[in-house]
Amino acid sequence: MKVLKLEGIRKSYNDLVVLDNINLDIDEGEFVSIMGPSGSGKTTLLNIMGLLDKPDKGKIIIKNKDVTNIYDDNILSYIRGKEIGFVFQHSYLIPVLTALENVLLPSIFIGSPNKDRAKKLLDLVGLKGYYNHYPNQLSGGQQQRVAIARALMNNPSIILADEPTASLDVKTAKTIVNLFKELNDKGHTIVMVTHDPNIAKYSKRIVVLYGGKILSDNASLEEALKLIEQ
Ligand SMILES: Nc1ncnc2c1ncn2[C@@H]1O[C@H](COP(=O)(O)OP(=O)(O)OP(=O)(O)O)[C@@H](O)[C@H]1O
Ligand SMILES: [Mg+2]
Repeated sequence: MKVLKLEGIRKSYNDLVVLDNINLDIDEGEFVSIMGPSGSGKTTLLNIMGLLDKPDKGKIIIKNKDVTNIYDDNILSYIRGKEIGFVFQHSYLIPVLTALENVLLPSIFIGSPNKDRAKKLLDLVGLKGYYNHYPNQLSGGQQQRVAIARALMNNPSIILADEPTASLDVKTAKTIVNLFKELNDKGHTIVMVTHDPNIAKYSKRIVVLYGGKILSDNASLEEALKLIEQ
């Protein structure tokens, strides 16, 4: 099944065309990396995929449903809450909430809180015993694990991660991308932006973005690096 489809996406800021005729299909169970130089439009693309931003032109289809023309913020947040799990470079945990409460939050938001599931997800990301820790009592890698558990809370159709390992040391970054790999092995669909070849190599497919255009939508790591360095 296609989880997400972009058709002819264009996005510009004033005179600057940031995304130009982007066509992309993501199937259920894929683990895709998006690579490209700084400023090539990766974050903009991910934000459009995740309904955080609107394109000027083109279609966004999530699980065969065209969501392009939904403008109501409540409806958009509800779809986001149900279908999309976000992980960012910084975990953006809420400092006054415990790890467990942070993970629980998205389910409260869509009206179906489930504490047992939140606990299971923390166990899954290796944080059994950390339920009641506050974010400032966790390491960067642990905070990112909480953010991943939170992203999984509503069992989204797709996880979108924007440089999720960029602020972690090499070893911790590896444990995080391994966690993504494990989740993908269990069937989760993941799209991850990364600059790091050592992280991108864990994915099954690499999309190369350059100057707002897709140069390849299924490159090997070697091809991707060549295209980016041109
Ligand atoms: N809100 C905005 N207003 C104006 N220009 C923007 C805005 N957001 C992004 N841009 C511009 O769009 C281009 C693409 O930005 P984007 O953040 O998508 O790049 P990126 O590939 O994620 O880069 P990086 O690897 O540095 O994170 C950049 O030239 C940026 O300056
Ligand atoms: Mg970016």
